[in-house]
This record gives sequence, C-alpha cells and structure tokens, in this order.
Amino acid sequence: GLPRRVTVYEVGPRDGLQNEAAIVPVEVKAEFIDRLADAGHTVIEATSFVHPRWVPQLADAGELLTRLDRRPGVRYPVLVPNERGLDRALEHGVTEIAVFASATETFAAKNLNRTLDSQFEMFEPVVSRALQHGVQVRAYVSMCFGDPWEGPTPIEQVVAVGERLLGLGCHELSLGDTIGVGTPGHVTALIEAFGSPERLAVHFHDTYGQALGNTLAALRAGVTTVDASTGGIGGCPYAESATGNLATEDLVWMLEGLGIETGLDLDKLVSTSTWLADRLGRPSPSRVVQALAKG
Ligand code: HMG
Ligand code: MG
Repeated sequence: GLPRRVTVYEVGPRDGLQNEAAIVPVEVKAEFIDRLADAGHTVIEATSFVHPRWVPQLADAGELLTRLDRRPGVRYPVLVPNERGLDRALEHGVTEIAVFASATETFAAKNLNRTLDSQFEMFEPVVSRALQHGVQVRAYVSMCFGDPWEGPTPIEQVVAVGERLLGLGCHELSLGDTIGVGTPGHVTALIEAFGSPERLAVHFHDTYGQALGNTLAALRAGVTTVDASTGGIGGCPYAESATGNLATEDLVWMLEGLGIETGLDLDKLVSTSTWLADRLGRPSPSRVVQALAKG
C-alpha cells in the first residue's frame, strides 16, 4: 500500500544552492526560505556549517540564521560535519542538525577528508553533544546506490554504515542517491535490507530520470519522508556527476495524483521556483515547473 501522508523534507536552500558558482546574496536566501514556509513546508534544510572553503556558497550560514524569520511549526535543520560545525550551529540557536556520512571509501575521502571508518570518529562527539543540548540529529548516507569511482555500492555496506549512524542516536536516516544511478528494484531491496522503513527517508538526485520511480518504490516499501529540492536544483560539488535533486514540484504533482497529503501549495511552490530561477539566471529543470509556469 501507500501512505496517506508524506513529509517532504525540503533541501533547496542547502543541497539546491551549495553547487551554485555565483554567490547568492544572503537576503535572497532568507526570502527563499520564507517563501518555502509560505508554501506550507514544515521542514526546510536551511544551510551548512561546513568549512567555508569547501562550500563557499554557504559561508554565510551564521548570517543567514540571524536573518531567518523562524516560524512556529517549521523546522530549520542545518548540515554539520564535525564539532567545529556544531559549535557554530549552537551559537546560532539551531535546534536540529544533520550529519552526512559516505557509504564508500572514495567519497568519504573526497567529501569529508576521512576514511570510511574514521568518519564515525568525527560524527560520534557531534551526535552525543547535540543530543545533550536537546538538538535532534538526522543522518545522511551518500552514494547508497553507486559511486563514480567504485561503481555499484554493495547493499550490506550501506546497511552497515546506516546502522552505525542510527546506533549513535540519530532519529532519521536519509538514504542518498548522490549521483542518481539507482533504479526502483534496487531501492526496494535496500529498504528491505534495513528490516524496517520506520526511521528511513530517501534522497534522490534525478541525474538519470529515475527519481520519481525510485520515490514510488520507497513509498511502497513504507518510507514516508522524501527529500526534494525546489525546482530540481542542486548537486554535490564533490561528486562531479551529481546533478539536481528530485524537484519538489514533480514530487508534489505525483503525490497529489496519488491522493497523498503533503500540506503543500503547488502553485506557491511553482511561483517560488520561477522567482528563484530569475535570481539564478536560468530556468528550473523541473518538468512540472515548466508545464505549470507556462499556463
Ligand atoms: P579537514 O580539512 O579534514 O578539516 O576537512 P580539519 O578538521 O582538519 O580542520 C582544518 C581547519 O578547518 C581547522 O582550522 C578547523 O577549525 C577548520 P585551523 O585550526 O587549521 O585554523 N574547520 C572548520 N571551520 C569552519 N567550520 C567547520 C570546520 N571544520 C573544520 N565546520 C571537513 C573536514 C569535514 C571540515 C571538510 O571536509 C568539509 O567541510 N566538508 C564538507 C563537504 C560538503 O559540504 N559537501 C556537500 C554536502 S554532502 C552532500 O551534498 C550529500 C547529501 O546531499 C546527500 C546525498 O546527496 O547523497 C547530504
Ligand atoms: Mg544531495
């Protein structure tokens, strides 16, 4: 069966913008997040407290949070890789963070400057200190389906990394198809290998046009939290072949068609994507945005 309601975890301000070469002004980022809340989002990943040299676009994380008009009922998680990032997040009153692990050795080195094993030494004190402060921690696993350097990722390897993160005390585990190579049968097999879908979320990039099909497979396997990015923007600067995320509008179109509640206003999402595309200087890659913005 399918769930009655799905939580859309919006990553546009973080995953969407992190790969943009031209720096987006902080006031545009703040307005973007405000528009997303207006459209009904209840969880908006706002930014990253990573090393500013690694992701220059998000070097203004602290300033953005200071400007943010936090609304009741809306969560604003931020990415945090290490204790330095946690300190910066706590200074800005963050109440929810996300750590991000790699399922493969090569990407752990490229994205985190760590080995597959030593990434956990970095996350362990982050998660335990966050929990002591009453801060909830989501965990991502990247390269869950395949990796540009190592090929297909063995399912047992993803489950081992995921279980370790849940064991640290993370409340949710988002399975990332960073380079978009997954297909629906692989999605079903991976979710089933975890035993229970309860704490799982899915994070698809649409590089090969599989993101919606993969999402449907995940919903059928019991997942009820789906990551998506406004207008399908995004990608990881440390994975060359990564393109945009599943577009929030494409997701919402499918969910509405299935009669699944999201609490989101599709017209407002489309107008936000059109507004953002004007700021970024190119059209949204989302098919639904293209179809609805015309009419
Ligand atoms: P490192 O070079 O090993 O860092 O990088 P270090 O711990 O050796 O520290 C070196 C210096 O950096 C020190 O300064 C630290 O204080 C400073 P010094 O003492 O030399 O003056 N430093 C920091 N400064 C500010 N904020 C920080 C911070 N950390 C250290 N947080 C590190 C390790 C993790 C920091 C680096 O590799 C990094 O920032 N990586 C982030 C990469 C990234 O953001 N990638 C994109 C997000 S992941 C993604 O997109 C995938 C996802 O969407 C899911 C999917 O699609 O699969 C989530
Ligand atoms: Mg991503």
